[in-house]
Amino acid sequence: MRVEAPPHGAPRQISGVLLDETAIARRVAELGAAISADYAGREVVLVTVLRGGLYFLADLCRAIDGETRLDFMAITAYGSETHPEGGVRITKDLDENIEGAHVLVVEDIIDTGLTLNYLLGVLRSRKPASLEVAVLLDRGQRRIADLPIAYRGFHMPDTFAVGYGLDLAGRWRNLPYLGTLSDEALEEAGLA
Ligand code: PRP
Repeated sequence: MRVEAPPHGAPRQISGVLLDETAIARRVAELGAAISADYAGREVVLVTVLRGGLYFLADLCRAIDGETRLDFMAITAYGSETHPEGGVRITKDLDENIEGAHVLVVEDIIDTGLTLNYLLGVLRSRKPASLEVAVLLDRGQRRIADLPIAYRGFHMPDTFAVGYGLDLAGRWRNLPYLGTLSDEALEEAGLA
């Protein structure tokens, strides 16, 4: 992943672009085509974790040629990388029963894998007919829990990025590209 110059008019805090809109759209279309083929004739329930995954979900579901339903969860992590047993707490559960359903968990990014590991355990206990994962960004360097990822958009470097759902303290999610932050912005946020 090469860092390109930010587009004209980008916020001054954005220092570069890791993935532009075109690259993201192309890959999302490919993932959508693969999912459409794999789930042909079967309804797929797309489960997304609020909030970052929404942006990828919105584009991915429109790239799937077939029946889909959406459902959402929200969670709060109260563990840490050094104490992963701290776990995750569900603050919003699914609205629908997934027993016997073909469930595809849609995430914007997997980092340590702890969130998804917990989530898959919860979902598996509800006896779906199948349970798979689609993730746009796989930042594997800090992986603790090894997870099977059926649909992966991109491997990404161990870089702090914002945009297309990824945020810094709630900001920048709505950038249509995946961008890097300037040293100044990172320092301001206590990340450098
Ligand atoms: C991100 C992402 C995953 C999680 C992955 O969410 O959407 O849920 O982090 O990290 P992990 O693999 O280390 O567990 P975040 O906590 O940033 O919340 P957000 O979706 O509201 O931005």
